[in-house]
Amino acid sequence: MDHRPVGFLDSGLGGISVLGEALRILPEENFIYFGDTRNIPYGDKPPETVYQYTRAAVDTLIERECKAIVIACNTATSVAAAQLRQELPLPIIGMEPALKPASLLPGDGRVLVMATRNTIRLPKFQALMALYGKDAIPLPCSGLMECVEDGQLSGPRVEKLLAELFAPYANEDIKAVVLGCTHYPFLRKTISRFFSPDVSLIDGNLGTVRQLRRRLEEENLLSAGPGGNVTFLSSLDGEEPILRMQHMLSLWRSPEA
Ligand code: DGL
Repeated sequence: MDHRPVGFLDSGLGGISVLGEALRILPEENFIYFGDTRNIPYGDKPPETVYQYTRAAVDTLIERECKAIVIACNTATSVAAAQLRQELPLPIIGMEPALKPASLLPGDGRVLVMATRNTIRLPKFQALMALYGKDAIPLPCSGLMECVEDGQLSGPRVEKLLAELFAPYANEDIKAVVLGCTHYPFLRKTISRFFSPDVSLIDGNLGTVRQLRRRLEEENLLSAGPGGNVTFLSSLDGEEPILRMQHMLSLWRSPEA
């Protein structure tokens, strides 16, 4: 049994959608969430730069005595997870767009994979595409995470952006949409309005938290509680970024989310 916290990181608010799932599935655990708001976005920056930001975030979480790290960001995982696992002794759990479960859904339609430009062009996703992407359409969504960071989860700005992104595929038979960036589950309701109700919107959050639970079990690191405590950290100074993270978590946990 190990009462140290689990560390989560993302470029900003997105990883809170994964943290929310972890609080539900692992109620005995406590968490530290690091939002790298100063360096947002990761999705369009050179991979070497994203690696440095991710390593700095991980180091901050290790200084706070985290027993395991969840890279709650598809982009940072694509860039840094493999290297960090070689460099560090603690469990590092990463994410990838949920293309595999989406491709295995019944039906002949295609799978639209929404993710950042970096996630889509890096080798990790290309390998996933080679295995499960025969009928997939990768869709880089620059500008979308900024809507979430600005608290615009619905309304004209985000709707216009989504309409432009989806327009080229209006005549495709789509069976599933993969939310391949941890910011996008916050836009689930708005995105779902662009598709018929039988189109599944799939994220990798639950799979990631189950993998965290497996790794904690394997390493004998599970906590016996009391849990449910979350400490937020930001790379920006001041109270405002922390308040925004707290607000995002309460939005995520509200029954309408
Ligand atoms: N939330 C991140 C992801 O899952 C990236 C957003 C960004 O910083 O561009 O890919």
